[in-house]
Amino acid sequence: MTTTDTRTSDAARALFTASFGAEPVGTWSSPGRVNLIGEHTDYNDGFVLPFAIQHRTHVALAPREDGRVRVVSTFDERTVEASLAELHALFPERRDEIPEWARYPLGVAWALLEASATHPESVTGVDLAFASDVPVGAGLSSSAAIEGATAVALAETWGLDLDRVALAQIGRRAENEAVGAPTGIMDQMASLLGRADSAIFLDCRTLDANVINLGFAAAGLELVVIDTGVKHSHATGGYGERRAACERGAAALGVPALRDVSLDDLPRLAELVDEVTFRRVRHVVTENQRVLDTVQTLREQGPTAIGDLLVASHASMRDDFEISVPELDTAVEAALSAGAVGARMTGGGFGGAAIALVAHDKVQAVTDAATAAFAASGFAAPTIFTVAPSAGAARD
Ligand code: GLA
Repeated sequence: MTTTDTRTSDAARALFTASFGAEPVGTWSSPGRVNLIGEHTDYNDGFVLPFAIQHRTHVALAPREDGRVRVVSTFDERTVEASLAELHALFPERRDEIPEWARYPLGVAWALLEASATHPESVTGVDLAFASDVPVGAGLSSSAAIEGATAVALAETWGLDLDRVALAQIGRRAENEAVGAPTGIMDQMASLLGRADSAIFLDCRTLDANVINLGFAAAGLELVVIDTGVKHSHATGGYGERRAACERGAAALGVPALRDVSLDDLPRLAELVDEVTFRRVRHVVTENQRVLDTVQTLREQGPTAIGDLLVASHASMRDDFEISVPELDTAVEAALSAGAVGARMTGGGFGGAAIALVAHDKVQAVTDAATAAFAASGFAAPTIFTVAPSAGAARD
């Protein structure tokens, strides 16, 4: 563990002791993620290329005797409590009775029991205390980090023999049904499968995951995150609307998912759907191709050569998918003008963060340029930091 990580793990332990008056038996953690490329392709059965980052959510755990689960976190120090036996009645129908953040860990407990057909009375109750240094609302998957940490901690404690892909699917189910955000599988897979210095090239139809060496450090590159501070939520609004447009496009072409649509199909699609739906589909189809091109370019030429693909991805999200915001466009333009190799918004959009791939000696110039551009536009100052591709969920 790094120093920051040790601190966050200690914070989870300290919160546990303060809240529950006992020592935890251990701590587990799972990271946030940056998506290098492949946005809004996951729920279209397409391709994504995310990597786990060094920011993690830690959970301290101890079993309890009475079949109840109690959760507390540094996000919201109110303890939320339920019995394991009542989770199936709470989710999804009565989820509104649970404070929002607590739907993530309780939802994972519920989805784990369901997926493993485990009777709630056959496993021990648990106390869980969470601490995190994954920025919330920045598009870096703070939610998948909570889900991943909960999933590995509970699976080990309950002795459930589930692999990482199964745990990712459990996290996704919690997010879809217990939280109510209609998201795909990318974030959970990145958080559970992450590897140092590498991205996960994921086929979201088959869930085949390949580890792709990124080689940023060897190429003298840094991955800079520019967090705009514009908060988003995928449980409401734009995310679900984009997903619906994709489903309309696939239905018009008579295919199960946009994964099955190629660039050659686009002229035919233009005859079948309205102009907005057409552009939504065009984003997904071209973005899938950009993921494949990025993987090939990384393998053949290394990370310095992927800049144009990142820039094209951003333009497609801004113009065709329309999920960027002025702050994200400003961050991308400022980074490129200060010499970034490439830049794009990352994550679901409508706020959150942009990423920029930057030569080590230009990180300061990019930081200064983004800060100045935000000030000139009257935007609140962004938070800017570098991230390193890191390992996925584990016991600390
Ligand atoms: C959010 C979702 C993911 C994915 C991205 C967009 O992060 O959780 O499943 O759809 O948006 O690529």
